[in-house]
Amino acid sequence: MARRNFVAGNWKENLLTSEAADLLAELLPLVQNINDADIAVCPTYLSIATVRERVKGTNIQLGAQNAHAVEKDGKLIQSGAYTGEVSPAMIKDAGCQWVILGHSERRQYFGETDEGVNVKVRACYEVGLKPIICVGETLEERDGGETLSVVDRQVRACLKDLPADRVKDSVIAYEPVWAIGTGRTATPEQAQEVHGAIRALLRELFGDATADVVRIQYGGSMKPGNAKELLAQPDIDGGLIGGAALKAADFAAIIEAARG
Ligand code: 13P
Repeated sequence: MARRNFVAGNWKENLLTSEAADLLAELLPLVQNINDADIAVCPTYLSIATVRERVKGTNIQLGAQNAHAVEKDGKLIQSGAYTGEVSPAMIKDAGCQWVILGHSERRQYFGETDEGVNVKVRACYEVGLKPIICVGETLEERDGGETLSVVDRQVRACLKDLPADRVKDSVIAYEPVWAIGTGRTATPEQAQEVHGAIRALLRELFGDATADVVRIQYGGSMKPGNAKELLAQPDIDGGLIGGAALKAADFAAIIEAARG
C-alpha cells in the first residue's frame, strides 16, 4: 500500500510574521513543482493569516501548532470564556487543514495529557480539522526499555473512542523526546521498530483499511543528511521537522528526499 509522504514544518515559537513571509518567499520556488509528496508549514497563530495568503494556490498546506478544547456534559466546546485559547473551529476558519496536537514540548511545559489530547482530537474531527498527533518516549523511558509500551499507551489514549473512518484522516508523528532539538536522531532501525509497532496497533484497533492509509511521520533532528535513510523505512511516511524547517534550503532538501 503506497502512502504519500508528508513533510510538515513545525516552526514552534520562531519567526516574526515578516520573517515567516521571507522564509516562504525563499521556500516556494524550491518546492513549487513537487507534486509527489505533501508539504505543510505550521506557523504561530499570529502568522497564520499572512502565511495563508502566501501559500494560497500553491502546494503548501497550512497547520497550527496547538488547539484548545474541553468537553462539558458530553459536548465539545469550540468557543467560550477561555482567555488566551484558540479552538479547532477557529483554526479551521483561519484556513488551516492541519493542527499539531500533543507535542512533547506541550506535554513537558504545559502539562498536556493523553486524555486532553483525545478531547482535542475529537474536537478537531467535529470541525473537519486534521490532527498531527505526537507521541514519543523520553530518554529515561527508552533506557528503561519502555519505548513500545509508552507509545502504545499514548496512541491508544489519544485515539480513544474515535471511529476508524475518522482516524484515516489523522497523522501520527513519532517524536522521541531525546531526539528533539538535540541533533541526536533515532537510527532508521530504531525509528522503524516504533513506526511498525504503531502501524500494528492501528491495525488491531481500527482494521487494515485504516492502518494502511494513516501516515506516520518521524520527528527529531531530521535533516537533509539523514532524511533519505529514515524515509526509506517501510513505515516512515514523512517527517515533522523543527530546526531544519527554519531554513528554506534544508526544508526543501528534506522534501526532495520524501518524493515518491
Ligand atoms: P527538531 O527537528 O528541531 O529536532 O524538532 C522536531 C520537532 O519537535 C518537530 O515537531
